[in-house]
Amino acid sequence: NPSSCSMEQGRVLGRMNCRSKGGASGFKVAILGAAGGIGQPLAMLMKMNPLVSVLHLYDVVNTPGVTADISHMDTGAVVRGFLGPQQLENALTGMNLVIIPAGVPRKPGMTRDDLFNINAGIVKTLCEGIVRCCPGAIVNLISNPVNSTVPIAAEVFKKAGTFDPKKLLGVTMLDVVRANTFVAEVLGLDPREVDVPVVGGHAGVTILPLLSQVKPKCSFTPEEISYLTARIQNGGTEVVEAKAGSGSATLSMAYAAVKFADACLRGLRGDAGIVECAFVASQVPLPNSHPVYIHPSATRHVTELPFFASKVRLGRTGVEEIYPLGPLNEYERAGLEKAKKELAASIQKGVSFIKN
Ligand code: NAD
Ligand code: LMR
Repeated sequence: NPSSCSMEQGRVLGRMNCRSKGGASGFKVAILGAAGGIGQPLAMLMKMNPLVSVLHLYDVVNTPGVTADISHMDTGAVVRGFLGPQQLENALTGMNLVIIPAGVPRKPGMTRDDLFNINAGIVKTLCEGIVRCCPGAIVNLISNPVNSTVPIAAEVFKKAGTFDPKKLLGVTMLDVVRANTFVAEVLGLDPREVDVPVVGGHAGVTILPLLSQVKPKCSFTPEEISYLTARIQNGGTEVVEAKAGSGSATLSMAYAAVKFADACLRGLRGDAGIVECAFVASQVPLPNSHPVYIHPSATRHVTELPFFASKVRLGRTGVEEIYPLGPLNEYERAGLEKAKKELAASIQKGVSFIKN
């Protein structure tokens, strides 16, 4: 294999400075499922991220080729490939951030929950590796159904005694990215100027855009609200149908995953004011003193559910603050009730998968 031969030669001939030892300043990031539809563009974009010093690419197929290809990019991160379960531990050891897009995608006619039977086991195995090799890493979980895979990961970590709710984040950034795009289209604005909070979870009615809280401040007609809500909730299905059997969103997802991972890394670095939406354990103890708390004694949780997507502040230890939902209008309150019902069942399904 010519590419692995030249990679090897480069390693042998390389002068031992701090970079070839992987010692440059920056964060160590692993992508699990790196050879897939999301994994490949995600790996490429992470190789371009100046906050990353070491990039580990793990998959059960094709990582040598993807790694050889990406390693030729003249950016700072040192790239290493890992293939198959026997290399999982080396892929994970010492990582600060682990991004997981491993697992099967939907085909037309399927729900995300239809992926549970295959992806639950994949996520469980990968999280057991995290327990053994980098229990303190931040985990960005992309594999669907996110509403169940995040509770699965939490249960694996709890069982091992390593669960830190600040460090486990289900990636719902694509819902925010879509919401910003679709809302900007309706308002005739540049999507980069628009900020739409999307809360709840990552499937159908659990995806709850808070159109009453869009920035810049604006208003919508009832027709616009029902069009936008439906389009945002069905964004994934729109792509699945357009791809007609060849998979689900990969490029916009890689973009969203990098946007989110970059926010996590900036938080780890200590940057102030990093706030994004994510699906997290929402019963993390919260500071009493923060001004966003209207009823500090009553609202220690975002909802009564153990996991929920909402705005969170990212910092040196991961999720450092979870914001309450803020004032909802009647339409959003009704949406929230529907979302909570479905979410409760999906969360329970994930928890039972590990407990039983
Ligand atoms: P894909 O099939 O193209 O790639 C998945 C990759 O995972 C493959 O390379 C496969 O070899 C790898 N894989 C399978 N089992 C593995 C294991 N045990 N360990 C490591 N790698 C393993 O799929 P895709 O389009 O990249 O989507 C991946 C997942 O992401 C799907 O579950 C999909 O539903 C989900 N997804 C989530 C979001 C989100 O917003 N959270 C968005 C899009 C897709
Ligand atoms: C998405 O929102 O695009 C992903 O969750 C993939 C899917 O199955 O829709």
